[in-house]
Amino acid sequence: MPDDASTLGASRPSPATIIIFGASGDLTQRKLIPALFTLDVEGHLPPEYAVIGVARTDFDDESFREHLKAGVVEYARLSGHAEGDTATPQAGTPPRTGEAQAGPSGATPTAEALKRFSAHLHYCCGDYDDPGLYRTLAQRIAELDQECQSCEKHLFYLATPPPLYSMIVSQLGAAGLNHSAGYVRIIIEKPFGRDLASAQALNNQVHEVFDESQIYRIDHYLGKETVQNILAFRFANAIFEPIWNRNYVDHVQITAGETVGVGQRAGYYEGAGVLRDVFQNHLLQLMTLTAIEPPAAFSAQFLRDEKVKVLQAVRPMKPEEVPTSTVRGQYRTYRDEPGVASGSTTATFGALRLHVDNWRWQGVPFYLRAGKLLAAKVTEITVQFKDVPHKLFPQAHGAPHANFLTFCIQPDEGVYLRFETKMPGAGMRMRSVEMNFRFGDEFGQAALPEAYERLLLDAMTGDASLFARADEIELSWQIVDPIQAGWAAEAAPISAGWRVDSAPPLEFYEQGTWGPLAADRLLAQSGRHWRLGCSSAGRPG
Ligand code: BG6
Repeated sequence: MPDDASTLGASRPSPATIIIFGASGDLTQRKLIPALFTLDVEGHLPPEYAVIGVARTDFDDESFREHLKAGVVEYARLSGHAEGDTATPQAGTPPRTGEAQAGPSGATPTAEALKRFSAHLHYCCGDYDDPGLYRTLAQRIAELDQECQSCEKHLFYLATPPPLYSMIVSQLGAAGLNHSAGYVRIIIEKPFGRDLASAQALNNQVHEVFDESQIYRIDHYLGKETVQNILAFRFANAIFEPIWNRNYVDHVQITAGETVGVGQRAGYYEGAGVLRDVFQNHLLQLMTLTAIEPPAAFSAQFLRDEKVKVLQAVRPMKPEEVPTSTVRGQYRTYRDEPGVASGSTTATFGALRLHVDNWRWQGVPFYLRAGKLLAAKVTEITVQFKDVPHKLFPQAHGAPHANFLTFCIQPDEGVYLRFETKMPGAGMRMRSVEMNFRFGDEFGQAALPEAYERLLLDAMTGDASLFARADEIELSWQIVDPIQAGWAAEAAPISAGWRVDSAPPLEFYEQGTWGPLAADRLLAQSGRHWRLGCSSAGRPG
């Protein structure tokens, strides 16, 4: 289906075969298979579908199924189907009998549900660079197509290490697996490239085999309900849009904090660092949706056109601005992590001040910060409104910037609004209070699907709205590259014209803090400060 024909809102997909490369890996076990299981249990998948796992590990169908069962038991979101539960399946797709009846954690899928699901799973073992693997795979797919008549629809999923993407894509092309009587689509995991040049090269390589309309570049943040809700909040309500601009907004800040370190992922993270790992994709996506103009219609094309316009308007950072507009940090124990070089300068924390040079946002800074081993696992977007033009009342804490609105992306999904009120009693003393909407309270915890559930379903139904287009990816690298180059200048001061002073110092921070103090100074310079609306850890006074 051409991408401009799709609209937001998944419908039930038709039968298909999903082929996952990297099937013995973590992502498959923790996210993809549990997501498919939940979709199956909730009746969102067609009765006929097949999953073929492809990897080098020596599994057969049975041992592959056993391996994945553990992931399903531990990670699948298992919703109840009580009356009134908004997680009940779509109209006409009643839940199948025998599934688990409990919440996202601690529940156990029933043996019957697991058995039924496992029967859809198959395995194909081989080396990704061996053409023989693709011949075997083609044979396997053809057999499954025959067993289930309308399964000539093939969805490939690249969940391998990124350096393998282009090779797998060209092997698929060489084996003719990019064509089918039904559709052929390919989902490609992040990171898509490691800078603009490599992203362009990868786009070119993939375009040699697949049309853009067949390609689904995944950013799992776009599958999060609360991220999609930014659009609903802005464009399904008339009351916020008039104030969503430079006349009323002082600045926007986005925080993505994690309490975990790099764990066993140093091999990847050492070469990536925080900018490539989460800024180029997740944080820029959050910023884009906050800043976007209303699309003419809710279609993949219009939505992505508008996102591209925001990215085009982000002011490129000049070398001399990198030290004053960015902060880079590393958690104190990072160099002790297994696989990390003793003198590593990889940043595990970043804070940026960006500007969107368009009519709506001129003069409104966007502050972004993210890091590992911070004080809380929390993702929030705060829109800080300007002060009243003339203060009539004394404020209890002399607090300026009284009004802000926060999108609580995770873990306490919701929307938070902070405003002033009169304290009861004599005089006109003010105090800040809050309005706090929580998805969990309103719809029940189980109502929020996992990001991968939504995204897999969208790819199966041909809705590319929540996937990144080629130009979007390249523009986001264009924003990140100058910052990354500035950060690297210290290591290679002469190269590419970057000076040593293009690099902000690498600042070390303690576990459980909000990163280096320099990140606070980045805002304090202009009388601002970081705030967290949703997480009680960060409640302002
Ligand atoms: C991934 C990054 O894309 O996102 C990880 O590679 C990071 O380093 C993760 O931990 C965060 O995702 P979430 O959904 O837990 O916020």
